[in-house]
Amino acid sequence: MLSEKSRPVVEATLPVIAERIPHITPVFYRDMFAARPDLMDGMFSRSSQLEGTQPRALAGSIAVFAQWIVQHPDSYPEEVLSRVAHKHASLGLRPEEYPTVYRYLFGAIAKDLGEAATEEVVAAWTEVYWLMADALIALEKGLYAVQANDVMRAPFRLVRRVRAADDVADLTFEPADDTPMTPAQAGQYVSIFCRAEDGLLQPRQFTLLPSEPGQRRIAVKLDPAGEMTPIILDKLTEGDVIEISNPYGDVTLGGFGDDGDGPLWLFSAGIGVTPMIAFVSELVRQGSQREVTVVHTARDFASWPLREELAELVARLPHGRLISCTTASAEGDHAGRVRVPELDVPADAVAYLCGPLPFMKDVRSQLVDAGVPGQRIRYEIFGPDQWMLHDQAREE
Ligand code: FAD
Ligand code: HEM
Repeated sequence: MLSEKSRPVVEATLPVIAERIPHITPVFYRDMFAARPDLMDGMFSRSSQLEGTQPRALAGSIAVFAQWIVQHPDSYPEEVLSRVAHKHASLGLRPEEYPTVYRYLFGAIAKDLGEAATEEVVAAWTEVYWLMADALIALEKGLYAVQANDVMRAPFRLVRRVRAADDVADLTFEPADDTPMTPAQAGQYVSIFCRAEDGLLQPRQFTLLPSEPGQRRIAVKLDPAGEMTPIILDKLTEGDVIEISNPYGDVTLGGFGDDGDGPLWLFSAGIGVTPMIAFVSELVRQGSQREVTVVHTARDFASWPLREELAELVARLPHGRLISCTTASAEGDHAGRVRVPELDVPADAVAYLCGPLPFMKDVRSQLVDAGVPGQRIRYEIFGPDQWMLHDQAREE
């Protein structure tokens, strides 16, 4: 809990800190990577840095956390902390690194605020930083403790590579040593570590697809402007060995509180179909009697990854239904974007969303308008979560 001494100081300086974050973060990262270039080799994503999404996510989340603990002194924003801890754990982050981020972040704050960074202000924000860091360290420790092994990543061999759609490869890996594998929950992801053109080790996250025991299976969509997917799609061939993390991620069925047995609605677009396939496969495995509706949006059927697999899985659910929306062909059940009012989504539905951010924002607001409470709408973002910083999504 924030001390009585720091609370008013944090409250008074929150607007200025929040406003200065875009100026503070480039200096923080520049200084940190100058001193610790090794953090870019196997930990941070170079593209996220260049693009600026991750810097904003990390520093911005501290302001979000501060605002939360000022307004709700007896609790923490658990959903935000959980997402970050899972991401950190997938990257193998160790507690020893928290003083590094503290040092360079607060160095940048002092530089930016100049005289306004009084001893009192720095002390109050230091308290905020360590409250958040300690909460994350505790969560990460708990996540590491339940793994079947004590390594952060292990070697896996690519054993099968097939085409899943235009520009999407379906890849299956098997362990290349005897490290025990942690079973994954449906909806979880792994970080995979591959070398960039210049040899730098770069992690990226991929949702796990249903597979045989003893395998990890993912679908990778080419991002032509990206750094790693062109390498994964062009260069990674059967027999190659790469390193893969244990499974992490809290967007699992019932992962955040009890979902109950009510109607389940899964909305995906593009490669966002991957968690939905994992969910439906798990429901089939459980023999679920739940009413499950999967709504997928694609340009056309050829660009819809793993369409047949999804359709077969949905058909195996006694109360399963697949609805397609196609934006550039007449193949789907509906032409154009998802229009929730035409779907009769019941107000007691639980919904999961995955796809590009504009798609998720659109579907989410349509669902809220249709009477589905915001707390029952969960989502997975295939990149740093900037939504929590700019949207009141979690407060409705
Ligand atoms: P990156 O190199 O990360 O680039 C991404 C974007 O950054 C580019 O499009 C470009 O706009 C910008 N960029 C890159 N380089 C620069 C530069 N030099 N300057 C400025 N901007 C630049 N993907 C899947 O295909 N399947 C999945 O199942 C999947 N699951 C995911 C699950 C989670 C939890 C998360 C977080 C992500 C998931 N992703 C998935 C996304 C995946 O992790 C990668 O982000 C994605 O594949 C792009 O990787 P990349 O290395 O090709 O692109
Ligand atoms: C990702 C917050 C400490 C390394 C993130 C994200 C947030 C965040 C919000 C984005 C998560 C997402 O939505 O995907 C924090 C906070 C910290 C902290 C509040 C301290 C209190 C650290 C430390 C390190 C670190 C100490 C390592 C030195 C990373 C990396 C990512 C990440 C590598 C993934 C982003 C990428 O791929 O570039 N963190 N973090 N973080 N964090 Fe942290």
